[in-house]
Amino acid sequence: MFVQGNMDVGQNGNLTIGGQDAVELAGRYGTPLYVMDEDIIRENCAAFRQSMETYYGGKGLVAYASKAFSCKEIYRIVGDEGLGIDVVSGGELYTAISAGFDPAKVFFHGNNKTVEELRYALECGVGYLVVDNLAELETLNQLAKTAGRRARVLFRIKPGIDAHTHNFIRTGQIDSKFGFALETGEALKAIAMAKETPFLEYLGMHCHIGSQIFDIAPFVAAAEVMVRFMGQVKRELGLETRVLNLGGGFGIRYVQDNNPAPFAEYMRQVSAQVKITAAEAGVDTPFIVIEPGRSIVGAAGTTLYTVGAVKEIPGIRTYVSVDGGMTDNPRYILYQSEYDMLVANRAGEPKAQTVTVAGRCCESGDLLGENVPLQKAQPGDILAVCATGAYNYSMASQYNRVGRPAVVMLRGGESRVVVRRETYEDLVRCDL
Ligand code: LLP
Repeated sequence: MFVQGNMDVGQNGNLTIGGQDAVELAGRYGTPLYVMDEDIIRENCAAFRQSMETYYGGKGLVAYASKAFSCKEIYRIVGDEGLGIDVVSGGELYTAISAGFDPAKVFFHGNNKTVEELRYALECGVGYLVVDNLAELETLNQLAKTAGRRARVLFRIKPGIDAHTHNFIRTGQIDSKFGFALETGEALKAIAMAKETPFLEYLGMHCHIGSQIFDIAPFVAAAEVMVRFMGQVKRELGLETRVLNLGGGFGIRYVQDNNPAPFAEYMRQVSAQVKITAAEAGVDTPFIVIEPGRSIVGAAGTTLYTVGAVKEIPGIRTYVSVDGGMTDNPRYILYQSEYDMLVANRAGEPKAQTVTVAGRCCESGDLLGENVPLQKAQPGDILAVCATGAYNYSMASQYNRVGRPAVVMLRGGESRVVVRRETYEDLVRCDL
């Protein structure tokens, strides 16, 4: 009945999330509200870790891609679960370090890191800098020289795999702003340069083919291409690739008919492919890293809104407006993403109508979904949007000077605020 495994209907007919009454949570903390189930996050971390152990003998690391959901508490949780992290800005790195995260387990990505960010990363002792382009290679070498230490680098490679997902979140094909292409020989040339660059230590390579991918085949194909390339790097440059980071991108279920492959099956097939190709290419099996973001936090999140105006336009559609929208969830306006929704105070009733759920911004495109099956919704009802744990809070804005909602974490029957709601005062904090 629900896309999220932690949901149920209580005796009073209200939606429960992790055993807690969603309507009560909305009353206690206000709406809009991001609710994150920590038990689910921890279960996901453990499942990834376990399958790495089972299929690759533990010779690898799961690094949470923190762009999916970044705040101090999530770094504490994934750190406690033994994961590494991927960061993509000085801001994410700063948040992680402020939360006490071990910099040695950090991968720093980005196609255009600033000089300040690179310097900061070196100062923090970031374990792995993922170099995207030649200009960055040179800058990093200079910075490392000044700092008197060697920077540990991986190279971002475009493996030429075209994953079938939304255009904006495909990254593995040659026409992408990320990384070095294999086809043109630029990837090999870049690694050859690193060999001549005294303040860089070559550790390995990285690829990421896209996001919200349901099939295993493109991941297996990318792994094969990368390990073959490791063989070429060894033969032609005499360099051993110790670390192979295969990125993230594992799809999750947003609506009932989404059918993502189980992660353990991905890990089984990819591990097997890495071992087979390594043997064929004459290289040692590398230490592998995977970077799940959405699949760690997505299904753990639910957003609660209060329903305001309901407009029935006869013969056209019914608009159900809520007190949030594109400011806390821009994924519909960006990618036409689908979500499962329900009226939390009538969760057990059938979804008798089909509506358009609209946000509160001064913008016609500010919708959370169209053709959404929903229980009868009235002003004052609580609307729950499911599986919003990834790329919602982290992509939220203050458009129309709407403050960002609070984030509440649930664990073992308790709830606590981990990010407080923004106030009017917060909105003018940087204004002079
Ligand atoms: N590693 C790298 C280098 C990445 O660029 C990403 C995502 C990930 C890992 C994690 O991918 P995941 O496991 O979460 O799919 N805002 C879009 C998604 C953008 C993904 C960007 N990179 C959305 O809301 O669908």
